[in-house]
This record gives sequence, structure tokens and C-alpha cells, in this order.
Amino acid sequence: MDIRFNLQTERRHQTEIIIGQDVFLNSISKIASYNNDLCFLIVDENVKRLHPDKIEVVKQQFDRLIIGVVPSGEQSKSQSEFDKLIDTALRSGVKRNTPLIAMGGGVTGDLAGYVASSLLRGVPLYHFPTTVLAMVDSSIGGKTGINHVTGKNLIGAFYQPQMIIMDISFLESLPQKEWNCGLGEILKYGCISDFSLFDLIDNVVKEKDSTKLIELIERCARIKVGIVQKDELESGMRAFLNFGHTFAHALESCTNYTRYAHGEAVYIGLIGALYFSKMSNPDLDISRLLGFVSTFKLETLDLVDNVDELIMAMYKDKKVTGNSLKLIALHSWESPELVETNDIQLVKKCWIYALEQAHFNG
Ligand SMILES: NC(=O)c1ccc[n+]([C@@H]2O[C@H](COP(=O)([O-])OP(=O)(O)OC[C@H]3O[C@@H](n4cnc5c(N)ncnc54)[C@H](O)[C@@H]3O)[C@@H](O)[C@H]2O)c1
Repeated sequence: MDIRFNLQTERRHQTEIIIGQDVFLNSISKIASYNNDLCFLIVDENVKRLHPDKIEVVKQQFDRLIIGVVPSGEQSKSQSEFDKLIDTALRSGVKRNTPLIAMGGGVTGDLAGYVASSLLRGVPLYHFPTTVLAMVDSSIGGKTGINHVTGKNLIGAFYQPQMIIMDISFLESLPQKEWNCGLGEILKYGCISDFSLFDLIDNVVKEKDSTKLIELIERCARIKVGIVQKDELESGMRAFLNFGHTFAHALESCTNYTRYAHGEAVYIGLIGALYFSKMSNPDLDISRLLGFVSTFKLETLDLVDNVDELIMAMYKDKKVTGNSLKLIALHSWESPELVETNDIQLVKKCWIYALEQAHFNG
């Protein structure tokens, strides 16, 4: 049975979210029932190659299908890929009511979402996330955008999709490293909002049972929906979703975005942020998070020598004001708070702890 619920934002937009196994065909026919003349499909190159049956389904439902293929990787969130897609769409006669389908991970979703927001001042957007990270996080909440040479996600818009369809059959082709990327964000939800998720995560990691996987995706998606509904434009509590991310972004930037996938950096960042929280709340037991070291299998010890550089990178984060670092910390499990700190020695300790604990001695 598939799961359905809505995201309702202040600006009165309603997004329907559907989660299940094999919900693809019905959702595509529903979209085509609104307008089946023309469809603009923006699809990740690997997804196009690995799921030709799904592309065929879309082809069959519309009179005409234009396909924009997004090369795999973060570098596709660029002005040049954006321009190419806009050019393809306009030359093919896209109209204000032409559905735009985004099929891929967070890179495709962010790029396609921004294209949808800009084309003719907005065409209807339908997300079909194909990675765990995109299902539990990036497809929900309307943040779209591309990167600039001076930083990530600096150009973009808030633009809510009409529907988000999470068909877990896409995940059958997902490499283990990409599962781990999603796991980083799922563990974050466990920390900031629902500690009982940790047991469910254990089950899903061990058994890959589809019913439990759907439950896990649903529970994470509902957490994100709950936060976005209260703070669509990130003026307050939506920042809690950045728990561990100031550490993670610094790590990604110091390792040139090549050594760790985002979710792996998030995992290390979560350990750092929890240690930071523990300094004010000694009762916080971090061991539950450390149980996933053998799932991530990361090498981190050599970076202990680069802690000063990592701290400098934290200061370049968008969330720095004056000399203070703004970090999300846990008052207790499920209870995040925004904390400002000038205590560099403490931040240093957090890095050393995180890098030593996240290292896998396999
Ligand atoms: N908009 C938001 O709120 C938000 C939130 C979090 C992250 N993000 C963004 O999301 C992006 C990361 O997303 P991601 O982790 O999904 O990365 P991604 O889109 O790069 O996908 C990861 C890899 O998996 C491949 N892939 C995708 N689906 C597949 C499938 N079903 N089978 C096999 N391979 C598949 C892709 O080709 C790619 O190589 C970043 O750019 C980040 O900034 C956005």
C-alpha cells in the first residue's frame, strides 16, 4: 500500500507526497491527465541508463516528450547546465502548463527545480527523487538552485513542486556509497527529532526490508515536512536541519569536495556536533551514533593534523556573524538549539574527537 500525505506551506501551496513500491506508472498517468500534449523530463544520466523502462512509461503517456539529461555529479548544478535546459525547453515550445518532471538525486532535483521556477516564470514541477538523500531531504521543501564559483547553492529560488513521488524501486540500482549519503541525513533526523529512528535504521541497514524502508523514508519525510511547514523560508527552526552541517561543509571544502560524499561528511559532522553538545550537557550519550562507524567505513585519522584549516573553513560558512560561530547543538536528544561560540579550543576538541571516532579500523 502506498502512503500519501500533504505539505501545506504558508504561501498556500499544497504538495502531495506519495511513497511506495511501484507508484511510478499511476503517478505519471495522473500528471498526464492534467495535460498530455508535451512533457519536459529532466533526468540524471545514470538514472536514464539504469531505468529505461521508466523513461518508456513517460514517453507513452504524452504526445511529445523532451528529455534533458543531467550529467552525474555536483558540477552539473551550474549556470551552463541551467542555460542548456532552458534553451532546450524554449526551443521545443514549452508552455506555462507544461509539466516538468525531475527524475534523479538532489543534483538533478535542485537544478530542475530552479529551471521550473524560471521557465516562463514557473511551470508545474513534479519530483521523482531516485536517491535516499533526495527522498528524505532534498526533494522536500522547495529549495532549488545551482552553485557559483564562490560557493554552493548561492543562486536559486524557493519553488514548491506539485507532487513528490518516491518510488523505492529506483533505489534497487543505488550504489552503497549513495545509500550512506542518505543515511547521514537520516541519522540527523534521529538526533534532532526522533531518537526511535535509530532502531528502525539498524533494521533497514541490516535487512534492506522494503516495508521498513518505506516506513523509514515516510518518517523522515514527515519530519522535514513538519519543519518546512513551520518555517518555509528558513527564518528560524528550518536551520535545525543544518545539525552537523557546519562541520560537514568545512570538511567537504577542505578536501575539495572529492574525498567524502556529502552524507559521509555529514556523519563526521554529526559526531562533532554531538560532542560539542555534550560539553554543555554531559548526560548526552553519543554511543548510539558511533555504532554506524562500520557502515560508513571512513578514513579520517590523517585529518587530525589539519584541524586549524578545518576551523578556518567553518568561519567561511554563511552562518557566521562577527567572530562567533553559529552551531546547532542538542540540548538533549530531539531538542536542537542554535548556539553561538567563540571557544576555538572547544571546537578544536570536537574536530579531534569526531575525526578519531569516525575512523574505521577495518
Ligand atoms: N534542496 C535541498 O533542500 C537540498 C537538501 C539536501 C541536499 N541538497 C543537494 O542535493 C545534492 C546531493 O544529492 P544526492 O546525494 O542525491 O546526489 P546526486 O544527485 O549527485 O546523486 C548521487 C549519484 O547517484 C546517481 N544516482 C541517482 N539515482 C540513482 C539510482 N536510482 N541508481 C543509481 N545511481 C543513481 C547519480 O548519477 C549520482 O552519481 C547536493 O547538490 C546538495 O546540495 C539539496
